[in-house]
Parts: sequence; structure tokens; C-alpha cells
Amino acid sequence: MPENQVKQKVDSLIKQMTLAEKIGQLNQLFVLPAAVPGMPGLKDEDIAQGEYGSFLFVTDPAQINRLQHIAVEKSRLHIPLLFGLDVIHGFRTVFPVPLALAASFDPATAERAQAVAAREASAAGVRWTFAPMVDIARDPRWGRIVEGAGEDPFLGAAMARAQVKGFQGAFEGESGHVLTSVKHFAGYGAADGGRDYDSSYIPEEQLWNVYLPPFHAAIEAGSATLMSAYMDLNGVPATGNRFLLQDVLREKWGFKGFVVSDAFAVRDLITHGFAKDPEDATYLAFEAGVNMDMGSRTYDDHLAKLVKDGRIKESQIDEMVRPILAAKVRLGLFENPYIDEAAAKAIFAAPEHKQEARRAAQRSAVLLRNEGALLPLDRGKYSSIAVIGPTADSAEDIRGSWTVADDPAQAVSVARGIRQKVGAGVQVETALGCEIRRKVPSMFDMLSAVKKPAPLTDEQNTMEIKKAVALAAKSDLTIMVLGETQDMSGEGASRTSLDLPGRQEELLEKVMATGKPVVLVLLNGRPLSITWAAEHVPAILEAWYPGAQGGNAIADLLFGDTNPGGKLPITFPRSVGQVPIYYAHNLTHQPEGSPGFFSRYWDEPSTPLYPFGYGLSYTKFAISHLKVNHEGVSVEVQNIGRRTGDEVVQLYIHQRAGKASRPVRLLKGFERVTLAPGQKKTVRFTLSDDELSYWSAAERKWVKDPGAYDVWVGNDSNASLHDTMNVE
Ligand code: NOJ
Repeated sequence: MPENQVKQKVDSLIKQMTLAEKIGQLNQLFVLPAAVPGMPGLKDEDIAQGEYGSFLFVTDPAQINRLQHIAVEKSRLHIPLLFGLDVIHGFRTVFPVPLALAASFDPATAERAQAVAAREASAAGVRWTFAPMVDIARDPRWGRIVEGAGEDPFLGAAMARAQVKGFQGAFEGESGHVLTSVKHFAGYGAADGGRDYDSSYIPEEQLWNVYLPPFHAAIEAGSATLMSAYMDLNGVPATGNRFLLQDVLREKWGFKGFVVSDAFAVRDLITHGFAKDPEDATYLAFEAGVNMDMGSRTYDDHLAKLVKDGRIKESQIDEMVRPILAAKVRLGLFENPYIDEAAAKAIFAAPEHKQEARRAAQRSAVLLRNEGALLPLDRGKYSSIAVIGPTADSAEDIRGSWTVADDPAQAVSVARGIRQKVGAGVQVETALGCEIRRKVPSMFDMLSAVKKPAPLTDEQNTMEIKKAVALAAKSDLTIMVLGETQDMSGEGASRTSLDLPGRQEELLEKVMATGKPVVLVLLNGRPLSITWAAEHVPAILEAWYPGAQGGNAIADLLFGDTNPGGKLPITFPRSVGQVPIYYAHNLTHQPEGSPGFFSRYWDEPSTPLYPFGYGLSYTKFAISHLKVNHEGVSVEVQNIGRRTGDEVVQLYIHQRAGKASRPVRLLKGFERVTLAPGQKKTVRFTLSDDELSYWSAAERKWVKDPGAYDVWVGNDSNASLHDTMNVE
């Protein structure tokens, strides 16, 4: 719809709306299963009264239609509801988690995944997702690292753009698509101690150069909405933060959409000690620029009084309502408020969605080790395979967190994937090995209909370990599936350790002691300090939470039907004590390896276990012929092995001197290429002002310093092919 018509429609509505109806549009209600404590009930009369502009967490198409009928037919001005949900990595078809999609180093894969998610969600009537999460995270203790693209702003920005495009389509409101809400603005990933929701203290330099770029990219890509974060940023709650929501978002970046708070974050301004009471919280969030109150009903209860008292003008309310109505108009909700439930079923069942999910999972996996070319597995060689581990046959854990609308029965565990791959001729047996459990229950347990049984006792776990070792001893090959259950990373899922939880390390060492060949598949949502495995287990595949087709994709990869080509979007530390550890650190006194270098730590190297950008393949690549000139950088990559495979060619730069010390390396270009044996390709990157400028905390502005720059190209952040370049 042309923008002048959008405006006309919005203007005409605003003219007719009462203050209460306007405030209703700013009010979003959580619709959760009745069992969840503290949730206000939903009354049909309230919908008819125009009390709500939006609901979150309704996923059933029939219920969505029912609620929409009330809003459209019974309310005075027939304003449709906007249904929002955390469609994070799939709706009905579960895709790899966002961290895994980032590991594909292929924005097109992320875009396709989110386009499928959008198609399914919109078919169900959910036209708004609280995604992408673009928080840079450099502390793997933080559970929500799984929802983002890792540690790097350049990769993060690319993934942010791709996801906005995938979800929203070519334009805001395109049918079969959903609006995005880029989140959590801003700095949530820097939570103190990696503790979820804790305060963030981010210096100006890091804010502009590291944490904000992916948000800016998402806004430039057209994200219709944005979510304000929970935590304090440098002492000011993000949901009451004028600097973020006005100065940066609206003034500098020209954002025209609307801001929704994170859930209950408006009311929480009181908890922060920022607002005196709910009325004050309403005032502060509203004045800061939060259009919609998610869940806390604080706006609903207090805005009218603030208008009556003259502290907020009704015209200000109008301005906050406008972008919400405009979004509904652009989505076509006034003309087509309802969905076709039969059509939704057909869309959910589309076989191509499963294929996309399988392909995305294949492309997300990262091969960390492959000694003696154990992988790909030789199909004829093994007549018995043991698949061992607490998550080896779990359809729940393969999917990861934020799976609220899928059909769990569709999920393919690793064991199931292996069985399907090898067929009846090979004996595949599974063993739990040991159970892994959170010490503190997950907040999402209350949403689940399935109650967890009591945990195994230590003796029972000892028995499970024995059984598993016996199984490994009698099998030709063991596939160990270790890592974290799906509820061990995600929201409210931070950890103080990065070790394999529970007794998995012991299990692994005992299985290795059988002397049989072992492949380790990792299912997890964060870097794990697998130092023992990295030295002793010949083959390690990092599969993250690969989604519902994960088991099939892992089997495809292990048996060589496809070749792993993913790369780490985040540094893997040797131990949690190294955190924060990231490749783009600055060079300071006595850098590692320089003359006079003594040590950073005396008990451990300060280098990571696996660097950012790292990942192996079943074939080998040669990267050569680096050319650097004023037009940019070109390099040749050739597959010099015997299998078709993918390489991610990565470009890093370093500014030698300037107005600030700059990181040792910064990723400024990457491209994933597929090459047949012998095939070569020239890859080109540009280095424009965008890549060369940075925010100087000394100058308090974006600068581009003239002088010498190092340029490296290679296949991880330790790339060695080098040249220099002069910037005028
Ligand atoms: C809280 C989370 O922080 C946010 O990411 C999510 O979108 C909302 N809850 C709604 O589920």
C-alpha cells in the first residue's frame, strides 16, 4: 500500500479514537497457559472494548482467528490485533539456533531459514516476531549467547540484515512475511558476570564499534520495530533510556517504526530504582520512547492519568500510536484480518521446509577436529555403532530453546538420524551414558505440559556410565553426543562453568579408554571448554542445537553425504577463567610472542582453544594470490583435496597507528564458496569508508585514520596470508 494511503488511514483512525482506545494500542498482553502463575486472565469483553493492541504467545491459528474476530467485529473502530511471538529459529519447522546459523557464515542461509519461519508464522496469524536478537556476546557464560550471532559486529551485522530480510521480505507488510523486532536494545550481551539480566557497563568506544553496529544494520535493513532491553546500560535502564531510544535510534538512525519494551520492563523500572512508582515508570518509559508496554499493563493503568494531569499531552500519545497503526495497515490486517486454517496446515507440512531446515543444519555444523581422517565415516566398515550420551536420542534437545509452536514428534534425534542413514544392515544401539540436569529449574518448565521425572541418583548415573562403556566396548564405532540440554542455554540459562555439565567428561574419558574409534558430536548453545576432548578425541563435530532435522543433517555430515563448512562465530576458551576472550582485542604491553613476552596468565596460555572463524573440512583449500589495492582486496581460493567442499574466505584488517589503538584484527569481509576438487575461484572484497572508519572515543565521532593497515586473508582469525595497504 502506498505510504500516503497508510498515513490517511492512520490519520482517520486517530481522529476517531478515544484516549482509552489509543492507550489500548500501546498495551500488549501475554496470553499464556492458565497454569502460569501471576498471569492476568483474558476477557473477550476487554478485546471488544479495545483494551489491547497486541497479544503475544498465542500460536494456535484457531485461537488467533477467534480473538481477531472479536477485535475486528466487536470493537468500535474494528482495529485488528497484532499477534507477536518469539519466532527465533522456526515456527512449525525448527531450524538451527541463531548462533548456529551464524556459524554457517552464510547470510543467505539465515535469510532462507527466517523466510520459512515467516511463512509458517504468518500462515498461523502471527505477523510479528521478536527477532532477530543481535546482541553481541563475548561472555559464553551468558545463556542467551545462543540466540545471537556471537562475538563479532561485522558478522553480527551481516546476520542481522539477512534475518530482517528473511522475516520481513522485500518490504514491510509483504504477505507471507512477519515484522521484525530487533532486540535487545542495547548492550544486553555484556551483562556483568554473564548473569542474565544483570547490568551492563559498556564504554563509548565499545558501544559504537561493537554493540551497536548490528542494530544499526537491522534498522537500515528496515526492521519495523525494536525491543528495548531489560538491563541498565551504564546505570540507566535501557527501557527508560532516552540516549538509546531517542538520540541514537530516532535522531541519528532515523528510525520510524515503534519500540516495544521487553516483557514487564516498564514496570521493572521501579525494581531498578529508576522510577518511584508505576506512574513514574510509565512516564519515564513513555518519555524515553517506548511505544508499547509488553505485558506489564503499566501503561494501561497509568497513561490516562498522566494525560489528565497534563504531564503527557494527548498529541504525544497520538504520535506513539501512529507507528503501531501504520504497521497494522501495512500488514494488510484491516483488509485481511483472518487466516485460512486449512491453508496454514498445508504450509506447515510443506516438505521443502524440512529440506531447508536440513540444509541449514548441514551448513551450520563446524568440524573442530578430524585426526587420521576418521571422518567421513567409511560406510562399509562398521557393522555395529553405539550412539551414546544424555542428548543422543533426545528429540527435545536437538531443537534448542524457543520452540513454542512446533510438533516435537517431527524432530529427528542424532540416534534416529544415524539409524535412518545406515539402514537395517548396521546395528545401532543407544545408551544414555549419564543424565544431565540444571541445578536450578528453567523458567520455561512452567510452560511445558510435560513434567520432568526426578533426576537420577549418583549411583544410577554410575550404572549408566558402566552400561555405556560396555556398549562402546562391544561396538565397532561410538558416536558420543555430549553438550548441554536445550534448557541449559537460552534465557535465564547462564552458567559459571564452560565444562561439559554433569559427568559427561568422565563418561567420555571412560569410553575413549575402550580404545575403539570415537566421534564426538556436540549439541550446545555456547562455547564449551572441551580441552581434554580437543587433545584426545580424534573427531569432533560442533552441531550446536541444529533443529528438528538435526539428526538427519548430522548423519549426512558424519557419513560424508555433505561436507562440513561452518566456522566458529565465537572464540572457544580453554577455560572459563579466560572469559572475556575474543579475537578482536587490542595490542598492549608485551603482546604474546613478542620479544620480552613473559606471560598473561601463569597457569594457562592466553590463546583460545579454538579461534574465531575456525572450522575444518573433509577437503583442503589453498588460499593464495592476495592482491591489495585501492579498489579492494582479491584472493584466489582453490580446492586442493579430493572432495567437493565449502571454504569461508575471511578478510581481516589492522590499523597500525591512528587516533586510537585498534584491535589486532577485525573481520571486514567473508564469503562462503563451494568448490569441486581442483576448482578455484577469485574472491573479492571492498574496503570502503564503512569498513575503515570507527568511532573514536578521543574525537567523539566516526573517523578514518590515514596510514598503514595490515591485511590478512585466510580461513580463520589466525589467517597468515598478509599484505599491507596505505589509506590516504
Ligand atoms: C523476554 C525476552 O527477553 C525477550 O527476548 C522475549 O522476546 C520476551 N520475553 C517475550 O517472550
